[in-house]
Amino acid sequence: MAFAIEFDGRRTLVTGAGQGVGRGIARSLARAGSTVVVNDVRPDRADAVVEEIRAEGGRAEAAIFDVTSFEEVLAATDRLGPFWALVNNAGNAGTERFALTPFVETDPTDWDRYFAINLYGVLNCTRGVLPGMIERQEGRIVTIVSDAGRRGEPYMSAYAAAKAGAAGFSRAVAREVGRYGITVNNVALGSMATPTDLFPEASEEMAERRARRLRDYVIRRFGTPEDVAGLVTYLASPLASWITGQTYPVNGGYTMGQ
Ligand SMILES: NC(=O)c1ccc[n+]([C@@H]2O[C@H](COP(=O)([O-])OP(=O)(O)OC[C@H]3O[C@@H](n4cnc5c(N)ncnc54)[C@H](O)[C@@H]3O)[C@@H](O)[C@H]2O)c1
Repeated sequence: MAFAIEFDGRRTLVTGAGQGVGRGIARSLARAGSTVVVNDVRPDRADAVVEEIRAEGGRAEAAIFDVTSFEEVLAATDRLGPFWALVNNAGNAGTERFALTPFVETDPTDWDRYFAINLYGVLNCTRGVLPGMIERQEGRIVTIVSDAGRRGEPYMSAYAAAKAGAAGFSRAVAREVGRYGITVNNVALGSMATPTDLFPEASEEMAERRARRLRDYVIRRFGTPEDVAGLVTYLASPLASWITGQTYPVNGGYTMGQ
């Protein structure tokens, strides 16, 4: 019998799925038979991904809400749930391009920008879906974190802190809800070749920085959404029932652990 991940129509919510990594995850989940709720703050992006999935014969619907708003998230999860799985993907600098900045040049306004989406967004959405999962005694939560939070990256300190916070939060919640058959894991990404490219080749300095960074990758390229989607789809699937509280790097060998 062929190996297959099968969701049998189970509903999954993917946040920030209107482009980049989230879009790749949403499409992969749909191909595995999930009914995917495609969240984004940008209706045009979410609608386009829903169209793409439907064109491939998959099931999807758009859900426009801001993960940084507790009220909006609760209203949406009440209206659209219950969910079998949540993928906390919305992250990064949100609607603005990510800025590499020395910590000493930042202030709480900058920190809030990163904490709101990368940490509070994860808490809000997890809070939104968990009651339904606990009631049904099943569920999967996968949160996209970053090497920035695992190993520390210069000039991304607030982002690194928010991502490390999200990873720690997942482990704590994993311990709380394992007894209900719910698993909670993190997938930590290296540099991705997505629209929010951290090293746009716009300037000579950035091109140089990008080339230097690339030399640290054993697989000498940045990641693609497809590189990430398979593992997330597996962790979100019924198959991954005895894996919880873990953080899996998907980073072309940028870091190696035991
Ligand atoms: N791009 C990278 O190099 C990289 C590296 C490591 C980790 N990550 C993480 O991977 C995830 C996906 O990154 P990406 O590069 O695909 O991001 P992206 O910026 O390309 O896409 C994010 C999507 O989220 C949406 N969004 C923004 N704010 C939102 C909000 N408040 N509520 C709902 N949706 C919102 C945006 O409209 C966009 O469509 C993020 O968590 C990011 O931190 C990215």
